[in-house]
Amino acid sequence: MDFKLEVAKKISSLADMETEKAMELMEIPPQPNMGDYAFPCFQLAKVMRKSPNMIAKDLAEKIERDDIVEKAEAAGGYLNFFINKTGFIKHTISQILDQGSKYGSSKEGEGKTVLVEFSSPNIAKPFHIGHLVNTITGNAIEKIFKHLGYNTIKLNHLGDYGTQFGKLISAYKRWGNDEIIEKDPINELLKIYVKFHEEAEKDPTLDDEARLYFKHLEDGESEAIALWQKFRELSLKEFKKLYVDFNIEFDSYTGESFYSDKMPEVVEILKDKKLLKESSGAQIVDLEQFNLPPCLILKSDGATIYATRDLAAAIYRKRTYDFYKSLYVVGNTQALHFKQFFSVLELAGFEWAKDCVHIGTSLVKFADRKLASRKGDVIYAKEVVDEAVEKTLEIINSKNPNLENKEEVAKKVGMGAIIYTFLKNNMGRDIVFSWEDMLTFEGESGPNVLYSYVRGKSILKKAGNISGNADFSYLKTEDEFNIVKQLGSFKETVEQAAERYEPFVITRYVTDLAKAYNKFYNSHPILSAEEEVKIARLALTKAVCNVLTTGLGLLGIQTPESM
Ligand code: ARG
Repeated sequence: MDFKLEVAKKISSLADMETEKAMELMEIPPQPNMGDYAFPCFQLAKVMRKSPNMIAKDLAEKIERDDIVEKAEAAGGYLNFFINKTGFIKHTISQILDQGSKYGSSKEGEGKTVLVEFSSPNIAKPFHIGHLVNTITGNAIEKIFKHLGYNTIKLNHLGDYGTQFGKLISAYKRWGNDEIIEKDPINELLKIYVKFHEEAEKDPTLDDEARLYFKHLEDGESEAIALWQKFRELSLKEFKKLYVDFNIEFDSYTGESFYSDKMPEVVEILKDKKLLKESSGAQIVDLEQFNLPPCLILKSDGATIYATRDLAAAIYRKRTYDFYKSLYVVGNTQALHFKQFFSVLELAGFEWAKDCVHIGTSLVKFADRKLASRKGDVIYAKEVVDEAVEKTLEIINSKNPNLENKEEVAKKVGMGAIIYTFLKNNMGRDIVFSWEDMLTFEGESGPNVLYSYVRGKSILKKAGNISGNADFSYLKTEDEFNIVKQLGSFKETVEQAAERYEPFVITRYVTDLAKAYNKFYNSHPILSAEEEVKIARLALTKAVCNVLTTGLGLLGIQTPESM
C-alpha cells in the first residue's frame, strides 16, 4: 500500500483538491519527530480564503485516525501526519512478500513502447571501456522502464558501415590470414587495418583501391558483401561473449549499414521541406535558430554521413515501433551530434522528435595508473572485466577459501562491482575507476551491498522453515521502522530513476537500504530473539533481501547466495 497516496486521498476527501495535487505537494518533514509526511496548506489558503494555520488546524481535527494515520497535527501552516507504524509495516512487508520480484512495478507504461539503443560498438574495432559504460547504463535503463510496465526494445546500432570497410577489404585481401583472424578476430582485423594506413602513407594507390572496394560494397557486389559480412559476424561473435557475461540480449542488431538504402528518402524529405542548403559543395541543414552548427547531410562527393544514417534510423524506428520514447545511450562526447539531428527532425516537422532523448554517459577516469592498457591508449572492456573477476577471486580465496562455486561467485561479484562503479553517480560526473574503491567489501561498493544481501540470506537459511504468521507489532525499534520506510519508497525510487534517466537513483537506494539493514543487524538479535520477535525480524529480513535482489537486478547486478 502506498501510504502517501492514502494520506493524500484523505486530504482530498476533506478539502477542495485533487488527490494527485495533494500527492505532489506533500513533503517529508525535516525531522522525524515532526511526522512522516507534511502537507503544506498554503495553496489551499488562496482558494479557501482562510489562513494556512486555520486550514491545517481544521483538517487535523477532521481527519480520521485508523491503521493508516495514527496522529495528525497542525504546525505553522502544515498538517503533519504520523502514520500508523504497525499498519504501515504490516502492509509494506506483506506486499513485498506477496509480490516478490514484481514489487515496485507498475502499469504506468502499459501500451507504450520505449526503445533503448545502447552499446553500439563498431565492427572490427575494439569494444572499449566507453562502450562498456554505455552497455551497462543502457541495460539498466531498459530494465527500469520494463519494471514500470513499458514495452521495451533493446537496439544495438552497430557501427558497421563506412569507407573504412573499403580499407579493411583491401587490407584483408593483402594480408588477411583466416586462421589467425578466427582466433582473435578483432585484434587481428585491427592490426591489418592499421597496417593498411601505414602502407597507404607510402603508396597512395592503396587508398584508390580502398575507395573502389567501398564502391563495390555500396553497389552490392558479392565478394565485397561476403567479406564485409564475415567481418561483421566475427566481430559480433566477440561482442556477444561480453553480452552473455552480462546477461544482455538485444532485440535487434541492425546497425548503420541497414540504413544505407534508406537515406535517399531522408534527403528527399529535407529537400521537400526546403531545408537543404549548399555549402562549399556539401548539403547541409542550417541550425542557426537552435544556436547549433549546421548538420551535414551529404558530402560534396554525394556520400552520406553519420547524421543522415541516424535520421533514417529514427524515421524507420518510428514507423516500425511507433515508440513512445526513443532513448539513445551514447557517450556525452556525441551530445552535439544528437542535438543536431534531433533538431533536423523537428524542422522536418516530425512532432515525435521531442520523444527522442540522448542519455549521455560519462567518461571513465582512472585513479590507478596501473590500469593503463597493454595495447596503447584504448582500454579494452574485456580486460577490465577479466581483471575484476580475477581480483575478486583472489579476495574470496583469502577471505573465504572454502566457499563453494567460487568462480561463479567471483564473476557475479566482480562484474557487480564494475556495474556499481559505473552507475554510482549521476551522469554529469566522470566515472572514477579505482580497483581499491571498486572491490572493497566495506564502504560504498558493489561487493558491500552484495555482502549485506548474503548476510540476510544466510540468516534465513539458518532459520530454516518458519511456521506461523509474523505479528508485525513486534517490530518496535526505530531501526526496523526506518528499514520499512525505505522498503516502502522503492516504487517511487524506480519511477524517479526512469523520469530522470538516472540509474544511480537506484544504486543510491540499494546502498542506503543495505546500510540500514546492516545497522539493524549489528544492534539487534534476530535468530536469538524471542520467538515472536524472531519471526517478525525474519520476515523483515526476507523483505529486505527481496527488494535488494530486485533493485540490484534493475541495475544488472546478480546476487550470489553466499560469498
Ligand atoms: N558506433 C558509435 C561509436 O562507437 C556509437 C553509435 C551511437 N548511436 C547512434 N545512433 N549514433 O561511437
